[in-house]
Amino acid sequence: MERYLHFDELDSTNTYAKKHHASLPDKTVIAADTQTAGRGRCDRKWCSGKGGLYFSVLLKPHKTDFLSNVTQLMALSVCRALEDLRVPAYLKWPNDVLADGKKICGILSETVAFGGRIDALAVGTGVNVSQDGLERVGQPAVSLRELGVLTDKETLLAAILDYFWRDYDALLQRGFEAIRTPYKARFPYLGKQTAVKNGGQTLFGTVQDVSPGGTLVLRTAKGTENIYIGDMTL
Ligand code: BTN
Repeated sequence: MERYLHFDELDSTNTYAKKHHASLPDKTVIAADTQTAGRGRCDRKWCSGKGGLYFSVLLKPHKTDFLSNVTQLMALSVCRALEDLRVPAYLKWPNDVLADGKKICGILSETVAFGGRIDALAVGTGVNVSQDGLERVGQPAVSLRELGVLTDKETLLAAILDYFWRDYDALLQRGFEAIRTPYKARFPYLGKQTAVKNGGQTLFGTVQDVSPGGTLVLRTAKGTENIYIGDMTL
């Protein structure tokens, strides 16, 4: 049984996980009803008022080769849990979950490293559950309630974690290969034109594949690019 910590309010579940990583066991789940300083990718804020599901899973794996793929596993797990609620959710590489063309879940994974060694990973996940009129941060957002789906956060969290732990050990052993088939089945961008932003650079091209390592394979005017990190913007 994993340890579960619940708070009415935190600054950020990721910040808490990183700050207390040394005293918390592997696989601790930290959840909060609200966050006062919720963080998203690329230094964006993550709106964290009442009604959203905010949690971090603290991991201390012995093997760290495939850590970047753990975030993709979490995205897949959220997608599967939403499908069980009959929400037609899908994945936008690398780890956004969308429904009705809008973002319903975002994931920010952060490492705690010391002397070049990774001590812990916090996989922070935010799912829009019962908020209305979500602020647009980067792209349009939607909540389950706005899609006409009512669920309680605890049941949803349990379903997400069930899917996550089911594939976690296989992922640590085999990497993205362990989840590539179900991931690609929920990734509707193959063959589509897209733009991928990474820092100041934007690459335009056609999505060819998600590689066995979980990278995005993009055919551009200059040839095929293997993209390790970025934001699909089209
Ligand atoms: C994104 O930009 O898409 C990632 C959003 C991640 C938000 C979650 S909410 C729980 C955890 N705590 C944070 O401060 N951020 C993550």
